[in-house]
Amino acid sequence: MKAVQVRALAKVNLTLDVIGRRADGYHELRSVFARISLGDDVRVRRSRSWHVAIHPPLDARPDLAERAAHELARRSGRDVAAAITIRKRIPLASGLGGGSSDAAAVLRALGNLWRLDDALLTAVAAKIGSDVPFFFHGAPLAEVGGRGEHVRAVAGGPWWGALALTSGRVSTADAFARLASGAWSDGQRTARLVRALAAGAVDAAALRALCGNDLDAVAVALCPAIVALRERMQPTPLFLSGSGAALFAIADDRGHALALARRMRRADVRASAIQIGLVEAPSARSA
Ligand code: C5P
Repeated sequence: MKAVQVRALAKVNLTLDVIGRRADGYHELRSVFARISLGDDVRVRRSRSWHVAIHPPLDARPDLAERAAHELARRSGRDVAAAITIRKRIPLASGLGGGSSDAAAVLRALGNLWRLDDALLTAVAAKIGSDVPFFFHGAPLAEVGGRGEHVRAVAGGPWWGALALTSGRVSTADAFARLASGAWSDGQRTARLVRALAAGAVDAAALRALCGNDLDAVAVALCPAIVALRERMQPTPLFLSGSGAALFAIADDRGHALALARRMRRADVRASAIQIGLVEAPSARSA
């Protein structure tokens, strides 16, 4: 195999409970992560030199995928030699994990090309960013703990939803830094969703009652566009993914998802119908 091409899917956090701060400065989380049907295209091929092309170009380089490749090369004693092309569709700093998903895809591809074992790849994934282990694991739906390094696949979904890309950008570090300890919770919201998923089918109405995110109030304070869209979309609940500022609604079916996305667009927000908790990436191939 000389080249690997994958669709690196984004995620939403159906729940995100912050349960404390750790000795390493990160926050201890309990969360249910779900892959969604929005993705970047990542292509990795053998090359004698190092070449990275990202479209559209990023302001800040190196991005997570490049850092992951360098770290993997360093730890495995390889020359940093590969050609990586990333076509970005997942908006930056939106809480959808685009950079982390790209990094996980690059690790998986280089792991195949260089025939590296999973233990090394998993260690590099955890080092590069808190969301990378979920994407590297590959489960469509997972219970995530620690700062993001503990990933356990759970069954459930897929569900339809509508994704709103509000104009705001929230830095994850900023959101966590502003989170007062009084806003922490005990992880029960995530535990309830995990129990419900284990007990059987969770329909859209049940899922709407179980979603929630401890970073919500901080993101609202940093991004007024969240409040404005919520007002326009009443009484449909809009949930925050990660530290935002992307919001998602849970829909009853595809038609409802399309209608919700239309309403979001009428409020001048980029929006689309999505599937949440996807089993397969919509397009993945190797060449
Ligand atoms: O791991 P990642 O680089 O994605 O995290 C960005 C920032 O978000 C970290 O530097 C940290 O400030 C914060 N964070 C945290 N606890 C987590 C994940 C992220 O405090 N579990």
